[in-house]
Amino acid sequence: MIIAVIGKGGVGKTTLASLILRRLMECGQTPILAIDADPSSCLGPALGIAVGGTLADLRESMRETADRPPSMSAGEWLALGAQEAIVENRGFDLLTMGRPEGKGCYCFVNNLIREHLDRLSRSYRHVLLDCEPGLEHLSRRTSGRPDALICVTNRSRMAAETIRRSLALYREIHGGLPPRADLVLNQFEPAEPLAAEMTTIAAGANVAFRRVLAVPSDPQVASFEAAGTSLLKLDPATPALAALRAWELPA
Ligand SMILES: Nc1ncnc2c1ncn2[C@@H]1O[C@H](COP(=O)(O)OP(=O)(O)O)[C@@H](O)[C@H]1O
Ligand SMILES: [Mg+2]
Repeated sequence: MIIAVIGKGGVGKTTLASLILRRLMECGQTPILAIDADPSSCLGPALGIAVGGTLADLRESMRETADRPPSMSAGEWLALGAQEAIVENRGFDLLTMGRPEGKGCYCFVNNLIREHLDRLSRSYRHVLLDCEPGLEHLSRRTSGRPDALICVTNRSRMAAETIRRSLALYREIHGGLPPRADLVLNQFEPAEPLAAEMTTIAAGANVAFRRVLAVPSDPQVASFEAAGTSLLKLDPATPALAALRAWELPA
């Protein structure tokens, strides 16, 4: 399964991606490839992982240098370099995409990267994407086609509106929504009146979320984030993680 966490900047995508990763591991649904596809590269820090290289660094170096050994195909060379952007952990690997490309033509390298990611993904049970804010990755089509979209909003109307637009754009590009789209109301208590309102905005005219999940504001999440402690070490009973247990796991 490719699971993509989407939403406006600051709504809690990285936090949710970390909690989902934790949940999948709790249930033994490993190995997982976690991909930090946000140029601000926050997933590594949230998981307490020091990130070395990124795929963006590799993309630049492949474009600029021609020192590929003659015995290697460009694809093989890229696969070798891409290893440096992957940090291995127990149960999951983390791949950091890094900043967006500069000016010039990256089509060749981008195609190689896409092919490589497709191939790489096959050796994992799940691929979990912490996407860049807003609509960019959906329009650039760089991240494969998700089987599940986890749409995150907070109490801001613009955040719910971003979800509505992202889903409309997704439909336009792919001709339909993925088999599963869930809505996460982050920093909400269950059954708040505002929750229903935000759900209506995010769903727009014709989206039926498979599941709408309220995740409360969690002081432990906030303090771990402030202290730079890995969210994988959250107390199992902490409210945000407890809420996530109601999230239906992928098949
Ligand atoms: N449920 C929550 N409880 C407490 N703090 C949260 C929660 N969700 C997000 N935050 C905090 O809000 C900020 C933004 O969250 P983040 O996951 O980085 O958003 P995004 O990845 O969408 O930009 C972070 O400081 C994070 O710790
Ligand atoms: Mg983030």
